[in-house]
Amino acid sequence: MRQARQIELLKRVAASGDQLRGLQIGRSATNSASAYTDPTRFEQEITTLFKPGPLFFGLSADLPEPGSYRAMRIDDLPLVVVRQHDGSLSAFINACRHRGAPLVDPNSSGRDLKAFHCPYHAWTYSLTGELRARPFAAGAFDDVTQSCHLIQRPVAERYGLIFVRPEGDSPIDVDEVLAGAEDDLASFGIENYALIESRTHEWDFNWKLFFDTFSESYHIRTLHSKTLAPTFNSDCVIFDAFGRNLLSVGLRANVHDEFEKPESEWSLIPYGTIQYFLVPNGLVVHQLDHIETWIVEPLSVNRTRTTTAVYAPSEPQTEKAREYFVKNLDLLLHVTGAEDFALMADIQKNLASGALPEVIYGANEPPLVHFHEQINQALRAD
Ligand code: FES
Ligand SMILES: [Fe+2]
Repeated sequence: MRQARQIELLKRVAASGDQLRGLQIGRSATNSASAYTDPTRFEQEITTLFKPGPLFFGLSADLPEPGSYRAMRIDDLPLVVVRQHDGSLSAFINACRHRGAPLVDPNSSGRDLKAFHCPYHAWTYSLTGELRARPFAAGAFDDVTQSCHLIQRPVAERYGLIFVRPEGDSPIDVDEVLAGAEDDLASFGIENYALIESRTHEWDFNWKLFFDTFSESYHIRTLHSKTLAPTFNSDCVIFDAFGRNLLSVGLRANVHDEFEKPESEWSLIPYGTIQYFLVPNGLVVHQLDHIETWIVEPLSVNRTRTTTAVYAPSEPQTEKAREYFVKNLDLLLHVTGAEDFALMADIQKNLASGALPEVIYGANEPPLVHFHEQINQALRAD
């Protein structure tokens, strides 16, 4: 993150007063409890937000070289993204044009793919999607007139971030998707990072509770009293809106130490968990010496799959160096799994009971006010 930007954000903290009151927004908001539990609304979220995208698909490091691929199901839609020999990316529907078999495992990734070989009858496609061969079928398809090219979807890559459009053909403009966050995101040099490890889990709660639990720090003091609270501030985050996206910076409790230095030497990096929420499905987090990403896949109104990955600034040179980053991932998944996500599942049950008319987002939880207003607005516009 550019130093001038770090200083600008820290100035807001320095001026915020007791309990970081100055970081709050001017108002609270409410949302109907059914926003988390109504299956009809859930379907609308999928058709309005997820299917048209663009959706966050990971970092460039997930597809480091020609032949690297990653397959993911987005709602019902099977997608595979592959790195071409010229370094560009292509996205295809992961289904053979013959009779629809998946070309690679629906939730898999790998390297060194030379061609797509269908596991059913061995039709073969180049990485660019052209049908190359229909082995052992002399004459059988000579009268086929329709295109057998793999079906393509828009994909775009910039600043080390990858986005796909599951439905529709319009090209993706990454700057438009980031809506102003591109200055920040470009400054991290994300395109140079190396993937350490990625893990996938499923949870019994609505996808929006993922954003709720990650974007505010007000819960740290109580929910994370033994794990995070001794080190982290629990009053408020630094918040910026970028279109429907948002920045939420969680602060370490000792951030005020920085203000004893001359302003020109201030640095946010040692004190900030710098989180970019790429609505509706992505989270990119910069932590001191690594990056974490989350991809959120709504499976049903009360079930959500998350894929969490950790990246290092460069490929670790020793096993010990790699272990350090793996331990970060272990710790992250342990705390969120045992504390945040366990509680989100209980919250989902309570909301589903119908006994609660609404939930409240405080002025000290600015990301929640923004996120839910944006989602509700998009649904209304639809
Ligand atoms: S379904 Fe792919 S070759 Fe038959
Ligand atoms: Fe938390």
